Amino acid sequence: MGSILLQAMLKNGLLSAALTSATVQHEERAKMLAAKLGIQVGTDNAAAAKGADIILVAVKPQVVQEVMREIRGQITPAQLIVSVAASVPTSMIESWLPENVPVIRAMPNTPCFIGSGMTGVCKGKYADAGHVALTCSMFDVVGRTVVVDEKHMDAVTGLSASGPAYIYIILESLAEAGVKVGLPRDVATLLAAQMTMGAARVVLETGDHPALLKDAVTTPAGCTIDGIMELEEGKLRVTLIKAVVKATQRAKELAFS
Ligand SMILES: NC(=O)c1ccc[n+]([C@@H]2O[C@H](COP(=O)([O-])OP(=O)(O)OC[C@H]3O[C@@H](n4cnc5c(N)ncnc54)[C@H](OP(=O)(O)O)[C@@H]3O)[C@@H](O)[C@H]2O)c1
Repeated sequence: MGSILLQAMLKNGLLSAALTSATVQHEERAKMLAAKLGIQVGTDNAAAAKGADIILVAVKPQVVQEVMREIRGQITPAQLIVSVAASVPTSMIESWLPENVPVIRAMPNTPCFIGSGMTGVCKGKYADAGHVALTCSMFDVVGRTVVVDEKHMDAVTGLSASGPAYIYIILESLAEAGVKVGLPRDVATLLAAQMTMGAARVVLETGDHPALLKDAVTTPAGCTIDGIMELEEGKLRVTLIKAVVKATQRAKELAFS
């Protein structure tokens, strides 16, 4: 996720390559990423954090505390910490840093890679509206952003951060269905993907309720209603609801397991 975000932000000119540095755990990964992104990449977190305006934390939830311990000696309230780690509350990050350091949590998703991401943002105790606006401007270049209360961040994780995986399964299944009814696989995949994007764009651009849009596709005694009956019988709705609920519950635990 960190490299997806950096790559997109560098490409969009939000970050200057000369003023951006990154860290990873392994030396060989650092070399590979430095060549790929054209920025300085190392393994010394404290050195990278020293004097940085914004520190984007994109390690696994269980590693955040260790990284905060490494960098805390370099951190002042003039800097901004933006964490994309699932599950780790701002209060916990604040407790691992010196007093009054502004912390923002952001929950992006992988479509940020092509500028179609969705990011939920919330602020910690010491962050102000300016920090929120700065963070939103960072994530706006890789898609859309929404500011939420921190109590909703696990739900954002279970819905829009995990969501691309659910949609890829649905897309793969629709393409498989196309193959079953005789379409070449590449055509079936194109039909499924472009249709999914089109349907999503209609929801976003019209603001209409999805149920109304579904009704408009469903001609009385036509074919769509037969397809819908199969979906209802297969419990697609409840399955998707349960998937988001489970992922949200798991997001609450991640930092502690
Ligand atoms: N994947 C998603 O769709 C998504 C969406 C939203 C948020 N997130 C959040 O993003 C975070 C990273 O997830 P991911 O999927 O990108 O995991 P990942 O692919 O495993 O990447 C983790 C990165 O952290 C680096 N790292 C590990 N320990 C480190 C240390 N002590 N100091 C510096 N760097 C260290 C690793 O370095 P090496 O490359 O050298 O191993 C690796 O580059 C998680 O907290 C996750 O909750 C992910």
